[in-house]
Amino acid sequence: MKKDLSIVLENKNIAKDTYKMTLHSDLSGLMKAGQFINVRVEGQLLARPISICLIKDNSFVIIYKIVGEGTSKLSFMKKDDKLEIFGPLGNGFNTDVPDNDILIIGGGIGVPPLYQLAREMAFKKKSLNVVLGFNTRDAVFLEEEFKQISAIFISTVDGSYGYKGNVIDLIKQKSLKGLIYACGPSKMLNAIESNFKDGYVSREARMACGIGACMACVCKDKKDENISYRVCADGPVFKIGQVL
Ligand code: FES
Repeated sequence: MKKDLSIVLENKNIAKDTYKMTLHSDLSGLMKAGQFINVRVEGQLLARPISICLIKDNSFVIIYKIVGEGTSKLSFMKKDDKLEIFGPLGNGFNTDVPDNDILIIGGGIGVPPLYQLAREMAFKKKSLNVVLGFNTRDAVFLEEEFKQISAIFISTVDGSYGYKGNVIDLIKQKSLKGLIYACGPSKMLNAIESNFKDGYVSREARMACGIGACMACVCKDKKDENISYRVCADGPVFKIGQVL
């Protein structure tokens, strides 16, 4: 992991309170699907962890939602502005799996890291299904991008777009199967852990240092309470059934 002063290439609104930012940085060469970076916004004490959505040569994409002052300031950044970043952080997804059928499940702002993963799985010629859940129609993003590489199914909580309900019910209705890769709110990931045995979930946690030093993000092993993990350094990706 390294620090870099990245340069904003593009920063645009893509859904309700949701922005897609493309950054020029040589750190993109070190990144892998499922990892994240810490972003230091001017005037903010703590750096903010944001997952990596797409990795290119010398640039990468993040998608973030405005949830406070820091992300609000980020949304006002313009082309050629400089942004201090630190990373890549975390372990990322294991894409070296023998399974041919892959089922990718994303919820809300947990969707972005799954896009790079889906691209890599498509490149490996895996059979891909992507299921994305959002609260409302105006919160939906990345649908067209996923459509280019995979079958995609969308649910919204209020039924304003796609299937009305949650991703688990949609998966059951469509009888979708495969090795699971999921990222989203804890409630969704817990439901996935109750319904499926094989695969990976990328967990969120409150973070401070982002590098495994402060223990702000510790969670317990599901089977042995004497074992604990730091979500930032040992995760954020864990096997289904690994973490409480
Ligand atoms: Fe400091 Fe994870 S955020 S150990």
